[in-house]
Amino acid sequence: MKQLLRTLLTAICCVALPAAAETAEDMLVEMNLIQNNTALMQAAVEDGRERGQLCFRCHGDDGNSKRDYIPNLASQNALYLFTQFEHFANGSRKDYVMSKLAGHLSKDDRIAIAIYFSQNPVTPRQQPVESNPRGEKLYKSMCFACHGSDAHGSQQYPRIAGQPYEYLELTLMKFLHKDPERKNSPMSSVVQNLSEQELKDVAAYVAHMP
Ligand code: HEC
Ligand code: HEC
Repeated sequence: MKQLLRTLLTAICCVALPAAAETAEDMLVEMNLIQNNTALMQAAVEDGRERGQLCFRCHGDDGNSKRDYIPNLASQNALYLFTQFEHFANGSRKDYVMSKLAGHLSKDDRIAIAIYFSQNPVTPRQQPVESNPRGEKLYKSMCFACHGSDAHGSQQYPRIAGQPYEYLELTLMKFLHKDPERKNSPMSSVVQNLSEQELKDVAAYVAHMP
């Protein structure tokens, strides 16, 4: 099964692909090829489900996370998932488990896993706080330009809609306080002039977005 996706890709592309995608640009090319071809897409999803087994315990079988401090991977943009592995692997993003895991995944693993999780829907979860109009106002003035009016993101920006409130709050505090666990993130300058309360409000709003 491991080789199936690559064999199919090489067969369909007519030209021999490089041994594995090396950069985000390679990944984009490979992803577009896969997504435009039903057979490749099916193979990638099956491959990802197999290679992603050890992620299920925390991120859930379908990418809806099992704990509120763990992000959903379901419906997340595949390219964002792929680039976050790079960040964990090169140390610009740190997490006890993820940093260790990321170094052990091959490029092919990362692609298949990213595609598998990205095509699963997000299941609405119980959130510990209510949505609120202050958060909505902030979102609509400061966040939509990059994350989109529905917070589903794009190829460049992550989806944030429906993430667990706890994960959103934790992450926004890391950006605000320039925590080395997520250093050099463009988000740090975005939130620089916001208060902790404003970030909690916007996190509550985003958590409830479908
Ligand atoms: C023991 C629990 C655990 C396991 C197992 C685990 N993760 Fe994670 N993962 C986490 C936590 C916690 C975070 C959030 C880290 C942070 O706050 O920066 C995370 C973050 C991520 C992110 C970043 C998502 C985002 O929204 O920024 C990706 C991608 C990811 N994990 C993929 C995987 C994959 C793929 C596997 C399996 C190979 C895996 N994880 C296994 C706990 C886990
Ligand atoms: C200039 C574009 C831009 C704007 C404006 C922006 N973001 Fe982001 N956001 C990003 C990028 C890029 C990332 C990925 C950062 C990374 O990889 O560290 C991100 C990441 C995030 C994450 C982490 C996602 C995850 O899964 O870990 C959250 C939460 C977030 N943004 C919330 C917000 C909120 C709330 C606002 C409005 C107050 C906002 N963003 C405004 C570009 C932006």
